[in-house]
Amino acid sequence: MLMEGLVEQLEGIVGRESVVRGKDKMESYLFDETCIPVRPSAVPDCVLVKPANSMEVSRILRLANENKIPVYPRGGGTGLVGGAVPARSGIIVSLEKMNRIEIDGENLMAVAEAGATLGGLLKAVEEAGFSFPPHPGDEGAQIGGLVACNAGGARAVKHGVMRSFVRGLEVVLPTGEILTFGGKLLKDNMGYNLMHLIIGSEGTLGIITKVVLRLNPKTPYSLTLLLPFNSRHDALNTVPRILRSGVTPLALEYVEKELMELSAEHLGEKWVFEGEVFLIAILAGEENVVYSEAEKLSQICVENNGLEPSVAERRDEQESILRIRSNIYTALKRDSMDILDTTVPPSAIGRLADAIDTIAEKHGAYIPVYGHAADGNVHSHIMKRDAEKYEAIKREIYETTISLGGTITGEHGVGKIRVKELYRFTHPKKIELMKGVKRLFDPNNILNPSTVLEI
Ligand code: LAC
Ligand code: ZN
Repeated sequence: MLMEGLVEQLEGIVGRESVVRGKDKMESYLFDETCIPVRPSAVPDCVLVKPANSMEVSRILRLANENKIPVYPRGGGTGLVGGAVPARSGIIVSLEKMNRIEIDGENLMAVAEAGATLGGLLKAVEEAGFSFPPHPGDEGAQIGGLVACNAGGARAVKHGVMRSFVRGLEVVLPTGEILTFGGKLLKDNMGYNLMHLIIGSEGTLGIITKVVLRLNPKTPYSLTLLLPFNSRHDALNTVPRILRSGVTPLALEYVEKELMELSAEHLGEKWVFEGEVFLIAILAGEENVVYSEAEKLSQICVENNGLEPSVAERRDEQESILRIRSNIYTALKRDSMDILDTTVPPSAIGRLADAIDTIAEKHGAYIPVYGHAADGNVHSHIMKRDAEKYEAIKREIYETTISLGGTITGEHGVGKIRVKELYRFTHPKKIELMKGVKRLFDPNNILNPSTVLEI
């Protein structure tokens, strides 16, 4: 039950029109993109607030902290591990009204409020004549959430994940203080780096309200190269060879024909390329350099039993390939129990995929695999038809990943659904340190409780 008078006090902070009550009016704020069978159930007895500035966020948190009310910071709701789902009665804080974006061309940086969408940022950056190289997920995702979850996505091979682009943060602590970390700086060694602690903390240490992001100059030319193979083994074993060749693509994805056809069909499009499995490389830079890189990769592909590569130069063709790739998840989701994002050292990706095949065979299961090949980050879906074996399959994939020197989550985070496994595969001393950090930032454990840690 929510505290008596809470709604009125919140209305006093953000105004009546920015407070929403009632399950039917805030239905879409009660879930995220997590597969339904494993998604935590939301407690609908929540109040949704939409602050317009950091000061309002601060007053909301102060009120919640004094009364020990759980607070759920919310971005675009595109997470895959239940991080944004309110699992106890409390206050949902949506940052959607705080969506301003400024481009600082002199410093090659963007300053975005937390509620700006990825799509909005990409548009503003492009209009100003710059580029933001990563594509960390759904374009409806919001910048605060992307930073809170240290999102990765397809285009992380050359320039890294969100963390590599964040230069500064404004954060409101659960106690209400508004702090800035870093800034428009390329170097900053003033003590422990608390900014990097907040990046990836999944809304458990503070509410991110503003982000300074590094930009790149616009790339003059880009193309998407499709490298087809007859077997998963040949395709994945080509990845380390590409990475050693001196060509570093923006993205190097692994997909299978069957999944691309399914995703294309889901989108009302068609997958027309020959080949059983594919590596998709995105190359960007000066036109002549991009061409010679494409030639080099094509040659490596053919030397490793690959088939004839194809090139997509037109922007719409490139976008269609990326869109079909990005929607594999959406196309599979309805029939999935869960999607894993285990990550191993890049050279072990072939071994991980082979091990997943062996696990599938052992259980008579169907486990589709695709993902960010050059990052060692594969997505494997455990399907509803294998629901009974879900726990066993997941455990075996995790154990194999760890034995290959990997991590149980390279991308989607711990959220509310991988907490047990975090504890299982992490040294207890590290859990103790994490709990200590949480207590320092959030002494009353009001921020996104039961996320990352079991508290
Ligand atoms: C992807 C998401 C599921 O790579 O991480 O498609
Ligand atoms: Zn991914």
